[in-house]
Amino acid sequence: MTELLITFEGIEGSGKSVQAKLLYDYFQEKDISSILTREPGGSDLSEKVREILLDRQHLDMVPYTELFLYLAARAQHTQEVIKPALAQGKIVICDRYIDASIVYQGDGRGISKTLITQLNKTSTGGLVPNLTFLLDIEPEIALKRIERKDRLESESLEFHNRVRGGYLKLHRQNPDRFVLLDGTKSIEKLHNEIKDIFEARMMKLE
Ligand code: TMP
Repeated sequence: MTELLITFEGIEGSGKSVQAKLLYDYFQEKDISSILTREPGGSDLSEKVREILLDRQHLDMVPYTELFLYLAARAQHTQEVIKPALAQGKIVICDRYIDASIVYQGDGRGISKTLITQLNKTSTGGLVPNLTFLLDIEPEIALKRIERKDRLESESLEFHNRVRGGYLKLHRQNPDRFVLLDGTKSIEKLHNEIKDIFEARMMKLE
């Protein structure tokens, strides 16, 4: 049985969560067994870690604390939720995963990407998504879509530009796994593109 982990990535306000949910709804309609989950979060413990991470009161959080909390949440979520679902043959759709740590804590906070890649491997047991949809959009446009900003959303435009650049670099480095999408397109158009790409990939696997 082929395991299938599909992730959605992009800066805040890129529309990735909406698209992850639409793909999940489409799978439900088609009776394709799947789960929709997210990072940070996705399990009881990891959702508690999420609250700490996004809390605007923690503006003094240092970069390594941030990195280790994301990794801690990921280790629990991967072991408790993602791997069991994959083992049952379900498609797992995850709103953000390992790539977010590389770009936010790497490009954003300046932590070594080699170190983050190693620690990602430790926290996931080496699990890597099979397909990653990257919704690309300029931070100037994306951030206007958000009403009440959390700790990371309140970061500077420069920070979000570095994160966006990091994602585009990951796409260039992993052209087979990453699918780059224009986040300024309409919700419906993007959903149709995502469905088409998913179906084309499935045909290749068959
Ligand atoms: P969200 O916008 O998808 O709800 O994600 C919450 C925030 O967490 C978002 O600002 C991106 C950030 N994040 C990281 O900095 N590193 C990570 O590894 C993950 C999964 C998310």
